[in-house]
Amino acid sequence: LRHLLALNGLPKDILTYILDTASSFVSVSDREVKKVPLMRGKSVFNLFFENSTRTRTTFEIAAKRLSADVINLNIAASSTSKGESLLDTVDNLTAMSADMFVVRHAQSGAPFLIARHLNRHGLDHIHVVNAGDGRHAHPTQGLLDMYTIRHYKKDFTNLKVAIVGDVLHSRVARSDIHAMKTLGVPEIRVIGPTTLLAPAMKDMGIRMFNNMNEGLKDVDVVIMLRVQNERINGALLPSAQEFFKSYGLTPERLALAKPDAIVMHPGPMNRGVEIDSSVADGKQAVILSQVTYGIAVRMAVMSILAGN
Ligand code: CP
Repeated sequence: LRHLLALNGLPKDILTYILDTASSFVSVSDREVKKVPLMRGKSVFNLFFENSTRTRTTFEIAAKRLSADVINLNIAASSTSKGESLLDTVDNLTAMSADMFVVRHAQSGAPFLIARHLNRHGLDHIHVVNAGDGRHAHPTQGLLDMYTIRHYKKDFTNLKVAIVGDVLHSRVARSDIHAMKTLGVPEIRVIGPTTLLAPAMKDMGIRMFNNMNEGLKDVDVVIMLRVQNERINGALLPSAQEFFKSYGLTPERLALAKPDAIVMHPGPMNRGVEIDSSVADGKQAVILSQVTYGIAVRMAVMSILAGN
């Protein structure tokens, strides 16, 4: 594995290997062990052209636990504001001996562009990790979601999983679906208004529901999504109240899922829009565990790419 750009096309044994490697790092990410030397002397550049709380911070923690040097480029204060291009920025950071770029960008494909540019220039030792590109992919979120599901449910092959909300604009939904298909989840459902579902998913065998009560019936895992206001044409944007009335996860609706169903959310949450606070803070929610497992999963991805 040279770069991690998306999860589609990655075989089951590689996904499983990443999850198993993450398991081996859990004690390091929990700080029972403070650091391992697997990336000592390597420089990881975090390039976040879109805002982030969880992904950027957990990549930084993960890199530090692997003993790498981490540089967080402050994009707002960088020379991109003077018109410097993405690839010129990358070339200049490469000249500062970068070993890995962790890239988030509003444009789908931006991390691919960087990876292709590095490949074309024979810079085989520099790795790119996609930390979320437009509505396309968020592979490390997909992996940490799979880690969380495996932790709580043990086996992928007997699960019904529902993804609820703005599926159309969600890079998390796409990465989760690719990973779950590969890992053998037999029933994946998406629930939302037709305007926020992706019709092409039907061709992947995904069941589509417009009705929350029907879609949640007997599921083992509920993955809630934020309405991506920033990616939606204003005319199509549902109001927060309308959305919550039809698609908000309330305790009454959650009761339709299996009694031991878990509730996930990649964050950031909009309480009272896609999820009720009593569910977000309830005993079935594993939302903060997802964040914690993100450290071990990102350690696994970076250390594998770095050749360990
Ligand atoms: N899940 C996720 O990508 O959250 P951030 O936008 O805070 O990184």
